[in-house]
Amino acid sequence: MPTLVVVGAQWGDEGKGKVTDYLSAEADTVVRYQGGTNAGHTVIAGGREYRLHLVPSGIVHGKVCVLGNGVVLDPQAFVRELDELAAQGCDVGRVVVSDNAHMILDYHKALDASEESGRGEQRIGTTLRGVGPAYRDKAARIGVRAGDIRYPAVLRRRLETAVAEANRALAGTGGQAFHSGALADQLLALAPRIQPLLRDTAELVNQAIDRGEKVLFEGAQGTHLDIDHGTYPYVTSSHPTAGGACIGSGVGPTRIDRVVGVAKAYTTRVGDGPFPSEELGEVGDLLRQRGAEYGTTTGRPRRCGWCDVPVLRHAALVNGLAGLCVTKLDTLSGLPRVRIVVAYEHEGRRPTGFPHDVEMLGQVRPVYEDMPGWSEDLSEVRRYEDLPGAARAYLDRVAELVGVPVVMVSVGAERGQTLPRQPLFAAR
Ligand code: IMP
Repeated sequence: MPTLVVVGAQWGDEGKGKVTDYLSAEADTVVRYQGGTNAGHTVIAGGREYRLHLVPSGIVHGKVCVLGNGVVLDPQAFVRELDELAAQGCDVGRVVVSDNAHMILDYHKALDASEESGRGEQRIGTTLRGVGPAYRDKAARIGVRAGDIRYPAVLRRRLETAVAEANRALAGTGGQAFHSGALADQLLALAPRIQPLLRDTAELVNQAIDRGEKVLFEGAQGTHLDIDHGTYPYVTSSHPTAGGACIGSGVGPTRIDRVVGVAKAYTTRVGDGPFPSEELGEVGDLLRQRGAEYGTTTGRPRRCGWCDVPVLRHAALVNGLAGLCVTKLDTLSGLPRVRIVVAYEHEGRRPTGFPHDVEMLGQVRPVYEDMPGWSEDLSEVRRYEDLPGAARAYLDRVAELVGVPVVMVSVGAERGQTLPRQPLFAAR
């Protein structure tokens, strides 16, 4: 059963798109299991850039691409993305969507915007893509699922309930009320594009596993944005962690072979919430500028800081990580020293485990270990052994502190700028 889950080990934007694309060369099927258009996965191959929000990164290699039941699907954005990918020469004929995936509709985006502005200082810094409100409707059992487009009368009835609820919540915010009939018409106009892609994807993925095919599960966002394991309430509304791969695709945990975490060689976060290793001065600016740390989805500048071992240890714990794929190592070249946050201190004591209380996490003092930097440009390096000694020493130390081996290193955005250390899929 060669199945492999790729998760973000930090706060998202770790380079999961690039790693998934690289591993997709070997995979038969690639599955997105949570999140929606809040994600922005970039693949650069053969000098072309592909920006993906919903479609799994396996599309660039032309693999079977599954949007699982755990994904929230913005139908308009989805159709647009398919068209853009097709225009770039991708074979979109093997993309399938779960009947059970919930849809993000216009009122979810309006709710996201009005709730964020109502939060004032307490804002989460969401991507305003309607993701949280869509998952809330799912949990409240008033969501509209992709499969509902098969039954126009059912779709209209479900929309009436959901839109009435949304309009109640939006009343008094100055925005226009939504009309369920108009939304139903809009959706049914897209039905000819979406309906042919609908499948029982749990069955499809399990059958692929039964046949011994290689299935890759592509996480979106990151461990510390997980609604249960992240820095709540500064989180997204789904499960980017490895457990989410099972729930979000209908595959049992006994069928998952291995989980790897993707982590930048430093740390970034976009949106609000605690970030212990954040660098607010020169170093933060330098990392942002060299690493081009601006959001793929929203263009927002990302907050930047040093590698944070407590964050990575927590990711290793809740995901059961077998390896770390360290990305953007090249960004650290030229720094006289590189710092690693090895622990936190709070009121003179080192907390055991990762602090789940965001008040406390916002007050911890990072404890640093410094290592010599390296000046070499890494962009042409293609084998791990050819990395400068100081860069290897840095990676070895991070692996030792986290307790998880570094299994892959990335030294640039291009597909070829990848240094694998071992095969990640189990043998067939
Ligand atoms: P939402 O997912 O749009 O509700 O946003 C909730 C939080 O997750 C905000 O802090 C966002 O900035 C963050 N977030 C959501 N998606 C991503 C992502 O793909 N990369 C990085 N941060 C994200």
